[in-house]
Amino acid sequence: MLKIGVLASGRGTNLQAIIDACNDGRINAKVECVISDNKNAFALERAKKHGIASYYVDASDRREHERRMDEILRSHDVELVIGAGYMRILSEWFIKQWNRKIINIHPALLPSFKGLNAQKQAVDYGVKIAGCTTHFMDELPDHGPIILQAAVVVKSNDDESTLAERILKVEHQLLPRTIDLYEQKRIVIEGRKVRILPGDSWKEKYSYPDVLYSEGY
Ligand code: GRF
Repeated sequence: MLKIGVLASGRGTNLQAIIDACNDGRINAKVECVISDNKNAFALERAKKHGIASYYVDASDRREHERRMDEILRSHDVELVIGAGYMRILSEWFIKQWNRKIINIHPALLPSFKGLNAQKQAVDYGVKIAGCTTHFMDELPDHGPIILQAAVVVKSNDDESTLAERILKVEHQLLPRTIDLYEQKRIVIEGRKVRILPGDSWKEKYSYPDVLYSEGY
């Protein structure tokens, strides 16, 4: 079983989606620890509720914050780190420690709308299609090789919150599936590109109408 460590800063619905996928057997993985830079993060409560080791790690000193996170992840023999709404930019040092073993989810179709409030950026820009992306993290924010993407329609009456909600539902599919592909060793990184090796698909089993899923979902 793949040992996962999750970094989360907020309410942790993506964390919950991972826990649920582990528990119902959709993925052969286990969340070993949850780390937050925010002591009030509901993600920590979710972890506790499921008997998962949870840690608040103060981030006032970035170097110390990352050193401690690294130590915790190693102490749990974590094999894959997931950024699930972790709102800090990680240093080159930290990324190097977890090179190709650290994946993030971003609520936009990268490379559009990097950074904070991606859904608001999309609404304000007036795009007609939006979505979410899972990618390996590299030393630049929201930049590393893209693993999966899914696209949803932006409706004329959407605001930030209605669009965010539509995207979030799909994030909750894309992130567990990305972990599943990693666990099945079906992700091949070739420079900037990721190739997904053939195998089963979640498209027939777990898909919503009106969502366009990239190859590999
Ligand atoms: C998600 O939209 C994620 O993509 C973004 O922050 C949000 C976190 O939501 N980076 P949650 O904490 O997983 O509910």
